[in-house]
Amino acid sequence: MKQLQEKIMKDGKVLSDQVLKVDTFLNHQIDPELMKAIGEEFANRFKDSGVTKVLTIESSGIAPAMMTGLELGVPVIFARKRKSLTMTDNLLTASVHSFTKNETNEISVSKDFLENGDKVLMIDDFLANGQVVLGLKEIIDQAKAHLTGVGIVIEKGFQRGGTMIREEGIRVESLAIIESLQNDQVTFKEEGTSI
Ligand code: G4P
Repeated sequence: MKQLQEKIMKDGKVLSDQVLKVDTFLNHQIDPELMKAIGEEFANRFKDSGVTKVLTIESSGIAPAMMTGLELGVPVIFARKRKSLTMTDNLLTASVHSFTKNETNEISVSKDFLENGDKVLMIDDFLANGQVVLGLKEIIDQAKAHLTGVGIVIEKGFQRGGTMIREEGIRVESLAIIESLQNDQVTFKEEGTSI
């Protein structure tokens, strides 16, 4: 997605050869116009998948997921990383380890919102090691719902998550795939080439 690549080139900061900072439009301050365009793009790519729910995880997945749900006309659910005061029982849970942050979170979604037969589109801001995708997939399986695909705003193609998830036969659509962050440079993988 050209508009997103341009935004990353203009505003993204390479923190190391592993980490890209994008808090001017995605992870802290949010660019609503860009999120709208991202929602339209995901909705267009998954328009024939019969999606009934969009599922993401707090916090940075919520903005792109919301705009996608708005476009597709379906509800948006976000998994919680911390238990809420009112969400005490009837939960689907999975354990997710973050290699980037070296911490493990128990993520949860209420059974009230994911149902047997739901066709779920998963949306997230970053794909790195793929642990969030696996955790959310576990929750979808527990609900006996079906994962129709995964929409990622920025995939770090040099980390293993994308390859691992595609090898599981899951459809992954990433709007920008970063091939490398070496030498303080962002290099994108061109669309249509394999990682
Ligand atoms: P994984 O699910 O692919 O295994 O991801 P990982 O554990 O490596 O990532 C953990 C957190 O770090 C996630 O956010 C993810 O979005 C974020 N992250 C990973 N790589 C980058 C990067 O290069 N740049 C930025 N900006 N973020 C990255 P989170 O902890 O869930 O944060 P938030 O959603 O609450 O903002």
